[in-house]
Amino acid sequence: MKDKILSPSLLSADFSDLSKAIKFCEEKKAGFIHIDVMDGHFVPQISYGQPVIKSIKKLTSLPFDVHLMVERPEECVESFAESGADWITFHQEATVHIDRLISRIHQLGKKAGISVVPSTPISAIENVLPLVDLVLVMSVNPGFGGQKFIPYCLEKVCLLDSMRKEKKYNYLISVDGGINEQNVQSVLEAGADVVVSGAAFFNGALNWEVL
Ligand code: DX5
Ligand code: ZN
Repeated sequence: MKDKILSPSLLSADFSDLSKAIKFCEEKKAGFIHIDVMDGHFVPQISYGQPVIKSIKKLTSLPFDVHLMVERPEECVESFAESGADWITFHQEATVHIDRLISRIHQLGKKAGISVVPSTPISAIENVLPLVDLVLVMSVNPGFGGQKFIPYCLEKVCLLDSMRKEKKYNYLISVDGGINEQNVQSVLEAGADVVVSGAAFFNGALNWEVL
């Protein structure tokens, strides 16, 4: 499991003690910290943004894997880059000029990720697959932690894995939503490199070190 990366989602952490939550991530051998940014438009809730990211950045050297669930991400990538995001992932469904935004994120010196919700097929992002560093496959409808895993999303993980082998693409495949001890093996076997986990991880129900 050495080459697989655990990216715990802080959405399920105790917001009154993020320092403790980040220490817990480090102890449990996380490779990234997953930061879910929600704007109340693309998804119904509002979570946290640039000021929070800036202040927790000093607590860890783990890379920040920022998942933008926001409309018009092009308006905020610069400020997220300045706040401490290392990987910036935005949604195919949230903007039009995807190619331009990937270039912008790269110009800012950050890794660029593209995400799709469960109902969006991989064909919608096919043209930009050679350009991105990460593809985030949502395995729940985004917006809330602790939802149930949607199994058909794994077909997209398999497809992305075979496409990158065939075409020599370099993206990491990340899977986000409803991952727990029961389904994590199937996610990894489908070809995921990065496992995002919120509720199961912070409840102690995903024992990454023993996988
Ligand atoms: C959903 C978020 C996820 C989610 C993961 O909108 O993008 O990162 O919080 O948490 P669990 O593992 O609880 O589904
Ligand atoms: Zn997420």
